[in-house]
This record gives sequence, C-alpha cells and structure tokens, in this order.
Amino acid sequence: MDKIKIVGGNVLNGKINISGAKNAALPLVCASLLTADEVTLKNVPNLSDITFLNSLLQFMGLKVEKKEDIYNGYPATTYVYKANEIKELIAPYDFVRKMRASYYVLGPLLARFKHVEFSLPGGCAIGARPIDIHLSSLEQMGANIEIKNGYVIADAPDGLKGAHIIFSKASVGATCNILMAATLAHGTTKIENAAKEPEITDLIDLLNKMGAKIQGRGTSILTIEGVKELNGAVHGVVADRIEAGSYAIAAAITKGRIELINANPEHLQQPLRVLEKMGVGVEILDNSIVIDGRGKTIIGEDVYTDYYPGFPTDLQAQFMALMTVAEGASLVTESIWENRFMHVPELCRMGANINIHGRASAIVRGVEKLSGAPVMATDLRASFALILAGLVADGETIVNRVYHLDRGYEKLEEKLKAVGANIERIKEAD
Ligand code: UD1
Repeated sequence: MDKIKIVGGNVLNGKINISGAKNAALPLVCASLLTADEVTLKNVPNLSDITFLNSLLQFMGLKVEKKEDIYNGYPATTYVYKANEIKELIAPYDFVRKMRASYYVLGPLLARFKHVEFSLPGGCAIGARPIDIHLSSLEQMGANIEIKNGYVIADAPDGLKGAHIIFSKASVGATCNILMAATLAHGTTKIENAAKEPEITDLIDLLNKMGAKIQGRGTSILTIEGVKELNGAVHGVVADRIEAGSYAIAAAITKGRIELINANPEHLQQPLRVLEKMGVGVEILDNSIVIDGRGKTIIGEDVYTDYYPGFPTDLQAQFMALMTVAEGASLVTESIWENRFMHVPELCRMGANINIHGRASAIVRGVEKLSGAPVMATDLRASFALILAGLVADGETIVNRVYHLDRGYEKLEEKLKAVGANIERIKEAD
C-alpha cells in the first residue's frame, strides 16, 4: 500500500488549480442513468471514487467514454455517458462496500426502470451513515421496499408518484436521490428541509438542462414537476469547495501564500470567515481566492459544523490541524457526524494538545511545534489533516493508507509539490 512522505518546514507559495468536486460529480454521473441520450460531464476529477462508480455503472450496462480535455484553462477529464442499454438493475455488495455513494443509483434506476436492488452499505469510519431518509421518501413516492439478505429491493411497477416529503434531516444524499427520482415521477414532488449544498445546486442545473422541471434551486424547498422522459446534456462539474478549503489551510499553516484558481468564494463563506478571524489574509479576485499567511500570527477560533451554508464538516479535520499550531485555544463542535474525531489521536502523536469532550466537542490548545511521525487516518478528510500537520511539523511524516486521499484529492502530491512542499509518494506492493 502506498505511503506519502513529507518533510515539514517549507513555506508554500504559488497557484493551485481547484478540480471538479467529487461530491458533485458522483450524483451527476448517476443522473446519466435517467436518459438513453448522451450526457457529457466536463471537469470530472480523476479520483478512485469516480473510477469505482464508473465500474459499477459499466457493470449495469452504462457506456462510458473518457477524454482528456481543457476546462477553465487547465487539463481536465471529460466523460461521455450513455445509458441506452442498461441490463443489470443491481448494485452488488462488492461495489457498494468500496463506495458508499453508489446509493445514488437508487433514485434514477427506480424512476426509469421501476426496479432496483442495492446492497446496504453498512457502517463507515465516520459514523453509522443510515439511508432511512432515502428509503422512506421513495416509499412515500409509491415504491415497495423490502430488505432481504443485506439488499434493498425496490419496485414501483406503475412508476413513482409525486409526493410531499418533509426530510427529518437536511441530508445531501437523500436530496440528490429524491431529486433524481422525482424528475421522472408522475405528478409533482415537493421536498421540504432539502439540503442546499452547492453540489445539489449543480445537480439541479444538470437535471434542468436534461429537461427536468425543478424549482427552488439553492433553497430548502424544492418542487419537481415530473416529466415523461429526459434528454442528454453537457455540463461542467462545479469546483471542489472542500479541496479549495484544504489547500487554503496549507497556505495558512505554512505561513505562505497560495492562489486558489477557479475556486468559488461564495461556496466557502464560512471557512473563509473563520480563516480571517484566525488572522489569515483572504483576498477574492475575479477567478481565484488568495490565501496569505505570510508574517501572520494564527489565533485560535471556535468552529461548529453545520448544514450548508454552515461550516462544512468535511473541513473540520483540516481546520483542526491549523488550530493545533494557533495561539490560544479553539473549540471544535461536530454536529453532523458521530465519531468524526479519529484524526485527534494521530495529531496528538505529532505533539498536538487536543482533548475530546463527549462525542461532539474537542478543545485544541495551540502548541509551538509539531513533530513528524508515522501516522494513519481512517477517512479522507482526516488523512488530509495529517498531510497539513506534516507540512508544518519538524522532520519527516509518513502518512499511511493513502487510498483514502486518492478517493478525494486529485493530483495531491503534484499540486503540493508545485507550490514548494517536500512531499513524495512511496510506492509499495500490496
Ligand atoms: C455527504 C458528503 C459527505 C459530507 C456530508 C455532510 C457525499 C458523497 N458525501 O454525505 O462528504 O460529510 O454530505 O455534508 O456527498 N442521515 C440520516 N438518514 C439518512 C441520511 C442521512 O439520518 O437517510 C443523517 C446522517 O447520519 C448525518 C446527516 O444525516 O448525520 C447528514 O448526512 P448526509 O447529508 O446524508 O450525508 P451524505 O450525503 O452521506
């Protein structure tokens, strides 16, 4: 299994182009199942999560064509999808266990083919991650759902029907799934307490280009008037706000300056505000955000994760890395996921001073220096937090379990090297 070696202490300076968002691309790819026409997605990040999802959909019969392209002035991947010969309506355990978000096949397949079988994903490193809201909403739309041998078996012999659905939590996954399902349902569906993340807005934009009738974009009430069929479309994936936020912290923690090209500041309002409160310079330019930590004293600040537009849980671990070397204390409260402090013991092994209180809060008291160590994390964002700690630590840090990073950070070493990091991948046979 590959490892990443970092020698800390370099000040990062330069430009990083922000890739297309993984969490937007996953539902966008699945939206291609809603039509027999071609759906072209530009700016799809080259990540293992996308490769896994593509292989699941290819197993089902989706045609997938990959092209190297240019998007917003930078090399990027375009995929052309065509779902005119879907033969399998089953997502087997071997695919789902590698990639939870394969649950995005549920809504589109049930809506278009009236049947789907989907292996239940099981637990995950950052909490239980149930899909009850997805399933109960599909039931409200007339689906019969049975759970058998670890599989969800869903049928809607007469097609899905519009319904008035009120989500108990503003779930990102359920919002995407039900949006896709409702586009081809008979009648109108109204979702209340829908999630408002930019990745959902991106999905709505693609679906509307495909001929869907969705209103309420960017709000928590979405109205979807079902149509008979959808057509093909061409769409570019929105920039990854979590990747942008992660590299923003790389600039801050090394007291350097990084220009985040193609990042969208509107999608990062809370994280940028927190960075400014911590003493970091933030400048918004036409097509980029400049993060400037040069000569700054980083000060502790409290963070409470929340649904968008609140502070994203997917940046909690990375901000915690910054807090470990800030002056004073910071209180981090995680309100979205249980068990999302798995990075804390590893950061402490590098010399951080963090105390966890209960299941949801951690107090971080800034220390003068971290020291390099062999570390590992159990999820994607926590792994990046360890990279950040390694960038500022004395000596060498080895981050194990690199497959987590490969799920969500395109060209990680290349991007960090280009701004001056001493980082390399150590290839090891499995
Ligand atoms: C997505 C993101 C993930 C991010 C999360 C919250 C993807 C692929 N992943 O995950 O990176 O951390 O949003 O911003 O886009 N819940 C239920 N029942 C359900 C569904 C969710 O109780 O049926 C709960 C979850 O346990 C959690 C909360 O709702 O406490 C939010 O989950 P959700 O927004 O669904 O997260 P994901 O879509 O899985």
